[in-house]
Amino acid sequence: MLQWVIGLLALLGVSQVDAEDPYFYYTWTVTYGTRSILRVPQQVILINDQFPGPKLEVVTNNNIVLNLINKLDQPFLLTWNGIKQRKNSWQDGVLGTNCPIPPNSNYTYKFQAKDQIGSYTYFPSTLLHKAAGGFGALNIYHRSVIPIPYGYPAGDFTLLIGDWYKTSHKTLQQSLDSGKPLPFPDGVLINGQTQSTFSGEQGKTYMFRISNVGLSTSFNFRIQGHTMKLVEVEGSHVVQNLYDSLDVHVGQSLAVLVTLNQPPKDYYIVASKDFRGPFSLQLQCCTTQTHKPRFLDPCLQLLHSNFIGQCSRWNLTSNAARPNPQGSFHYGKITPTKTIILANSASFINGKLRYTVNGVSYVNSDTPLKLADYFNIPGVFTMDSIQGLPSGGAATVATSVMPVSLHDFLEVVFQNNENTPQSWHLDGYDFWVVGFGSGQWNPHKRKTYNLVDALTRHTTQVYPNSWTAVLISMDNQGMWNLRSAAWGRQYLGQQFYLRVFDPVRSLTNEYDIPSNVLLCGKAVGFHP
Ligand SMILES: *[C@@H]1O[C@H](CO)[C@@H](O)[C@H](O)[C@H]1NC(C)=O
Ligand SMILES: *[C@@H]1O[C@H](CO)[C@@H](O)[C@H](O)[C@H]1NC(C)=O
Repeated sequence: MLQWVIGLLALLGVSQVDAEDPYFYYTWTVTYGTRSILRVPQQVILINDQFPGPKLEVVTNNNIVLNLINKLDQPFLLTWNGIKQRKNSWQDGVLGTNCPIPPNSNYTYKFQAKDQIGSYTYFPSTLLHKAAGGFGALNIYHRSVIPIPYGYPAGDFTLLIGDWYKTSHKTLQQSLDSGKPLPFPDGVLINGQTQSTFSGEQGKTYMFRISNVGLSTSFNFRIQGHTMKLVEVEGSHVVQNLYDSLDVHVGQSLAVLVTLNQPPKDYYIVASKDFRGPFSLQLQCCTTQTHKPRFLDPCLQLLHSNFIGQCSRWNLTSNAARPNPQGSFHYGKITPTKTIILANSASFINGKLRYTVNGVSYVNSDTPLKLADYFNIPGVFTMDSIQGLPSGGAATVATSVMPVSLHDFLEVVFQNNENTPQSWHLDGYDFWVVGFGSGQWNPHKRKTYNLVDALTRHTTQVYPNSWTAVLISMDNQGMWNLRSAAWGRQYLGQQFYLRVFDPVRSLTNEYDIPSNVLLCGKAVGFHP
């Protein structure tokens, strides 16, 4: 019976999305433009003439039909950072799942914000396009029937913060291609500018949704004279603690509430690490300010202070996107079916810098892995090139895919033996971040895990010479990119794909290939 209903839906062509929920249609055109961001004119990537791109604001379960028109001189894709694309890795928008949209061509994404809530982003996944823009906010608001665990703020500000280069994305790419790491950035931007002003009324409470849209720099965020109540981290409603400052690593998002309980004047918003920016938060009715913007004492935070780690916890009694409390799923009582340890490193392969995971540096295929898998095209990827444990051997290059069974429950340990912070992201999922520690992970470290109320998120930091452990319920079939969110590192190979698979091909596990699928590489000539 169930099979029949689903088959019928497929025939009607609505298998991609839930027919019950409303549809929203967008047309986005991607072009180059010129903006003087750091005082000199430079080429940027615009979406509908906007830099950053349009804010995509939807409600839980909304269906999004978005026609993306590429007017650049290079193939282009957007990925939806943190959108789980349930049963739908067809729409993930990375080179392992989608053919890039050729210049002067288009692709219509169809996906649903299924059971999700919170602050997310989208950005270009192709080449170094992210260095030129094309990113934006993706906010998912709650349905009216689902209460949120905080009062309605008087205003909702979105802050896309990231490092920025005056150098063009093509020059940055050439530099990586020649085997050099990304240079030090030239500045940090909030919403595409070096100076932004947010105004509010004294006594009222405002939400700030903060995302790190940069290429590689973690930042520490604070608002002069104000504390921030952390309420949401990538869709998790957290136990609401107050922070003076918060670290936000590349690819991460969070939301805080700030009560303007100080006398009216300008307060600086600071996103610092290696940077100090004069961003101001202005209270309305302030007297005019004549003093020059001044830099706050950067007092760079120690890496381990104010971090969202074991000290941030899930609020087990609050709702998420679904009416059932999040804590009803006792993740800590499940014995993992598999433990995978992933060690990042920088290696020289053929004399050029590459980044590796367990000794393997990923190279893109001309054929999306998802299409090769679907059409049974051999020779596109290998499932034995990357192992689930760090290797001692020489670094190699491969289009590496790790097989995982649908419904596996994975323990993944990110082991960082380098002295730079890492930021790891998994598409299609969020995961419980259960433990952090310094040095080498070993099974005894499991005693330190938070098995009760750890946060779920889609991107986790790993401190220098440290490890981070996460648990993942592999309930979303598809081909999913596990990558460094630090863009130069993923570009030079610190990524691979998890093939979450069930031998029975069934529409209950995965939607059918979209009828408008783009074909490229060895998939040209196959019929969806
Ligand atoms: C390109 O856009 C047209 C509408 O202008 C649409 O009919 C078509 O399906 C789009 N192409 C793809 C591959 O989605
Ligand atoms: C957790 O959420 C509940 C329900 O929304 C709320 O009443 C409570 O204050 C929250 N607890 C904490 C510690 O944030």
